[in-house]
Amino acid sequence: MRIGIIGYGNMGRAFALGLKDHYDIIVFDKDTSKKELALQDGIGFSNSIEFLLDSVDLIILSIKPQDLTSLKGLNFNGKSLVSMLAGTSVSRLKEHIKDAYITRIMPNLAVIYKKGVIGFYSEDAKKEVIKSMLEHLGRVYELEEKHFDAFTAIGGSGPAFVASIVEAMRLSGIYMGLNKDVSYDLAMATIEGTLELLKAFNEEELILKVSSPGGTTIEGLFNIEKTGLRGALMESFIKAYQKSKSL
Ligand SMILES: NC(=O)c1ccc[n+]([C@@H]2O[C@H](COP(=O)([O-])OP(=O)(O)OC[C@H]3O[C@@H](n4cnc5c(N)ncnc54)[C@H](OP(=O)(O)O)[C@@H]3O)[C@@H](O)[C@H]2O)c1
Repeated sequence: MRIGIIGYGNMGRAFALGLKDHYDIIVFDKDTSKKELALQDGIGFSNSIEFLLDSVDLIILSIKPQDLTSLKGLNFNGKSLVSMLAGTSVSRLKEHIKDAYITRIMPNLAVIYKKGVIGFYSEDAKKEVIKSMLEHLGRVYELEEKHFDAFTAIGGSGPAFVASIVEAMRLSGIYMGLNKDVSYDLAMATIEGTLELLKAFNEEELILKVSSPGGTTIEGLFNIEKTGLRGALMESFIKAYQKSKSL
């Protein structure tokens, strides 16, 4: 399958690099300085969007939502189009792109390491082929379109919230006298180990396993409950969801 990517920015490049070992990829960006970068990456660059549209089987759209209007009048020839434009519904895409079968996705940045999560809603008869293509970049979640905002809050914003927890762990270690690098390494290794444990036990079982009677963990957990930290974290995800809905 020949794939054309429109927009060679952060995400377009991540998709191209993640897919190039499996598919024939060609990209186009209106910023022609991206040509050199694409060629250095070993990716073919089309000098015109029309040539790209004519020569591929599937198009991945990775331009900013506000640039959608620049596609008006182009001929998509009834091809498959995968859009990752945040907050841009299928009905809005159809206002600008009339003659394509549309799939809407919401990837997170971890697609760079092929460990992304990708929300997926498709109106294309070839949706299973498209889903398999995306599975090279991470885990694909087929959703009703109305759930994209919730997906954006958990999967899209989630990495920044988890990074805040890592930062809090590192700063706490420094406060208690640990070297900043040791403290960071310890936070990361603890999270990696916790992810393995969470594959074997659910959250409640793990909390009970780590909490000895009258011990250090229950003392910290008491503070989490007393300060409403869990509620504050939930509120942060819900705020991200509400913001996504309002865009
Ligand atoms: N970054 C993320 O973590 C993330 C996560 C999920 C979804 N997304 C979505 O992914 C999309 C791309 O985001 P990004 O961060 O990769 O943006 P980006 O780095 O700004 O890349 C977009 C590229 O597309 C080019 N472009 C604009 N209009 C074009 C056109 N008509 N034809 C060809 N190229 C065009 C831009 O050129 P100029 O710079 O010259 O305008 C730019 O090089 C966005 O819709 C965003 O909502 C991003």
